[in-house]
Amino acid sequence: MKRRDFLQRSALTAGTLAWSSRLDTFVRDLRNASAGEGPWDVVRAAFLIPGDRIYLNVGTLGPQPRVVVDAVVEHTRQVAMTLPPSTDWHALKARVGTLLNGDPEGFVFPRNTTEAMSFIANGLELQSDDEVLTTLHEHVGGLSCWELLAARRGVRLRQLELPVPAGSSEELTDVFRRALTSRTRVISVSHVTFTNGTVMPVADIAAMCRERGIICVVDGAHPPGMVRVDLRAIDADFYASSPHKWLCAPQGTGLLYMRDEWRRRLWPTLASGGWNDTSLGAHRFNHLGTLDESRLAGLDAALRLQEAIGPDVIEARIRELDAMLVARLDDIPGVRIMSPQDPSLGVGLIAFTVAGLESIELQRRLSQANVRTRVVSEYGYGWMRLSPHVYNTEGEIERVAELIAGESGGM
Ligand SMILES: Cc1ncc(COP(=O)(O)O)c(C=O)c1O
Repeated sequence: MKRRDFLQRSALTAGTLAWSSRLDTFVRDLRNASAGEGPWDVVRAAFLIPGDRIYLNVGTLGPQPRVVVDAVVEHTRQVAMTLPPSTDWHALKARVGTLLNGDPEGFVFPRNTTEAMSFIANGLELQSDDEVLTTLHEHVGGLSCWELLAARRGVRLRQLELPVPAGSSEELTDVFRRALTSRTRVISVSHVTFTNGTVMPVADIAAMCRERGIICVVDGAHPPGMVRVDLRAIDADFYASSPHKWLCAPQGTGLLYMRDEWRRRLWPTLASGGWNDTSLGAHRFNHLGTLDESRLAGLDAALRLQEAIGPDVIEARIRELDAMLVARLDDIPGVRIMSPQDPSLGVGLIAFTVAGLESIELQRRLSQANVRTRVVSEYGYGWMRLSPHVYNTEGEIERVAELIAGESGGM
């Protein structure tokens, strides 16, 4: 082997190993960490968030941990060296399938939930006067694709009101049951609403749809990386997601899962070679032209980090931080929590108002204290939204509660 080839190959090997050996170090540190906050300090150190920054907006975008950034950079470097490692689709689908309990063959990797939802809506054969039912808690990323069909093809789009906060899963399913008509073709619903973290009973809604031959589309932008997701149990026709949120994968990393029959039936929105080769199944939809495959290397790293910490451990920690935050907020006079407090009905995204203080003003003041939040101004709700994740410390939750109490005049 020539010296230059040798150097390039060894650089490639070193590059391939670097992020995964850093992941090994993380796992060792995690194991060695003492109980209490110890392991969570190790988790926080795996992120690049500055120490004085309190990031409470994973609901918009998850911060990428160091290993994810490293995986993307190392992959990008290999591409630049003209030695691009090809994406191991099989392994990637298997890893996602294990995390979400889905058939690996059903996964597609678009850029985000918005793109996945557009692939679904545009790929169906909806006609004028066909009805799509959805809610007044959908994000534009899961709603606009239906609005477009309404404008272009005369599809009827009805947005239903949900109880706030929800009192039971049955009540939420009933919202849809009561609204069904003979024209209903699609129910499109968030798994966890972006507005206030309501957990929609998507398995029940999907079962109701199946009995009636209605297509069930789930906007699952939030749950992967936040709570256990069981795609086989949900058994919807489609499930769209954004691993760049709670899974903290690189920005521009989406997921689309489809039930077996749709892998052959759905029309592609974006056609490339093999678009009509139904033997490819859902993989037809991964033929998107030249891709930034480095983000898929980052997704792989994000999935491995998730496995290393443990999805159930992550969910339990998120719920612990949620409970702590809600308890502190509840103690502040004038605060009204808009999120369901029953853990089976709400998770991850805590929405509230403060009497006499516009959320947008509260956001401005928190931002001066280096706290990043989101205001749900959609539909005129005007709610402050906080979304804690595993990198947030208990001290940060206390600090934010103190700041809010101070702003509300409640201290
Ligand atoms: C429920 C929901 N759906 C869709 C989206 C759009 O996500 P993306 O920008 O990743 O497509 C969001 C973003 O916050 C969301 O909360």
